[in-house]
Amino acid sequence: MSLEQWSAVDEYFSAMLIPSDPVLDAVLDSCVRAALPPIGVAPNQGKLLYLLARIRGAGRILEIGTLGGYSTIWLARALAPGGKLVSLEVSATHAQVARENVEAAGLSDAVSIMVGRATDTLARLAAEGVEPFDLVFIDADKENNPVYLKAALRFTRPGSLIVCDNVVRNGRVLDAGSDDADVAGTRRYFELLAEQPRLISTAIQTVGVKGWDGLSISLVEGG
Ligand SMILES: C[S@@+](CC[C@H](N)C(=O)[O-])C[C@H]1O[C@@H](n2cnc3c(N)ncnc32)[C@H](O)[C@@H]1O
Repeated sequence: MSLEQWSAVDEYFSAMLIPSDPVLDAVLDSCVRAALPPIGVAPNQGKLLYLLARIRGAGRILEIGTLGGYSTIWLARALAPGGKLVSLEVSATHAQVARENVEAAGLSDAVSIMVGRATDTLARLAAEGVEPFDLVFIDADKENNPVYLKAALRFTRPGSLIVCDNVVRNGRVLDAGSDDADVAGTRRYFELLAEQPRLISTAIQTVGVKGWDGLSISLVEGG
């Protein structure tokens, strides 16, 4: 099996199940034009996020890691009427591209993008006494995933979902001795998932247009 085969299957799924969407196509074009790195979710992953938010009936979504707004738009489209999505992004350039894309998608009223290191913007949200979120999507600097999980626990309620992207990292997640901070952050994230009694969690490997990676999904329980 090869990356070409995995990618071809992704492309088949997308051709069958994800009709061409001028808004999302324009987002991807804008990211290329702005020379943003090609590290956003794939179309079938974006639709998975959309489905999770729809299944949850999410009225409030927190995203950590905006890039050009591709996953932001998938998630915001799934919001219940009157819902809100807050997305956190360290790069002012990425945030500007995302804002333009969110506006073009007609979602500016539902989406707010906060610029700054997520550790800081999360602290700001906590200080402001933000209302709980129904879904948190963690997709920024992986070394801080443990910090983001603790914040997600603080900002959610029973029934909320916490999704974390890129948890496989081409299999490097297995390397307990890795000096890569992103691998260490991912491994610590799994330790926290395993020991956290308020979470029911699993993780799934994915292959396809984004290579060999995966995501974890956690349901927040009471307590
Ligand atoms: C993988 S990309 C997000 C992709 C996006 N969720 C999507 O699928 O379209 C990660 C983003 O996180 C941002 N980022 C990295 N470190 C960050 C930090 N400390 N705080 C907030 N954002 C950060 C990067 O600038 C980048 O735009």
